[in-house]
Amino acid sequence: HRDLLAIAQLERHEILYLLEEAEQWVELNRQSAKRSDALAGLTIINAFFENSTRTLLSFEIAGKRLGADVVNMHAAQSSVKKGETLIDTAITLNAMRADAIVIRHGSSGAVELIASKVDCPVLNAGDGSHEHPTQALLDALALRHALDSRGEGSEDFSGLTVTICGDIMHSRVARSNLLCLQAMGATVRLCAPPALMPAGIEAMGAEVFHDFEAALNGSDVVMMLRLQNERMSGQFVPSAAEYHYLYGLTKDRLERAAPGALVMHPGPMNRGVEIDSDVADLLDRSIITRQVEMGVAIRMACLDVLTRRRRGVEGWQDEPRG
Ligand code: CP
Repeated sequence: HRDLLAIAQLERHEILYLLEEAEQWVELNRQSAKRSDALAGLTIINAFFENSTRTLLSFEIAGKRLGADVVNMHAAQSSVKKGETLIDTAITLNAMRADAIVIRHGSSGAVELIASKVDCPVLNAGDGSHEHPTQALLDALALRHALDSRGEGSEDFSGLTVTICGDIMHSRVARSNLLCLQAMGATVRLCAPPALMPAGIEAMGAEVFHDFEAALNGSDVVMMLRLQNERMSGQFVPSAAEYHYLYGLTKDRLERAAPGALVMHPGPMNRGVEIDSDVADLLDRSIITRQVEMGVAIRMACLDVLTRRRRGVEGWQDEPRG
């Protein structure tokens, strides 16, 4: 079987394939019935060792709309609290013969470790500050739809400049998006205070900025990220007011970006810190709710594609190379 652990493990044609597969589910989700039986009889476990609203709910909805039986394990209410190790938890989940396991964990690499211990496809729903692959895929789908609706759509993002601003150091969303957007041809700028920018990230092809206004200059898309206070230890942590003064996306600052620049945020947002409400809610410019909508379709596509082999349908690796 094949897992979905990281954008770094996907080739460009595989990213494009997953985006294409999601289109049928975007359509289905806009109908009143919203049901398919593609995954009927399959069991999906969502094992979340970290809090989530969007990712957990959209994976649950995705599995149910595809007809699967979906069960959620919240670590806070599980035997993890009684000292069970990650590997023993993985062996326990495996013994229940799930057909796919979706995992969020606070430690980078934990999802890959679990994947090595189970017999079914594993989907990474975010591991520490490493990767959040389905977030990057849904962001790409939302961006593509937004550009399409303006008549500016194309298969990839060649010629587009995307600025990602926030706590890049701790952000799995930034890492997955950097890789995904670059694979799709975009130029990616990363902007953060020096203490929240990983050393050497230029080697991944990013343009690095510490001055937000310079980064915004001419950007077609601005993706804002929150400060991940829960992952900070030892760094200089700016106050919310200081951070907003230097790095908050205000309406005035947005003027520095390209005309009509789109605004994105993976959520959860801290309004008034990294983004002002009048920007987050800006009609025709903010695609934050479209990102959430696309999250369900992308997760349906990922669950469908990754479980095909188990269902006797041609597997992912068998798809023609683009
Ligand atoms: N974007 C995202 O991963 O949100 P949640 O933490 O609410 O799942």
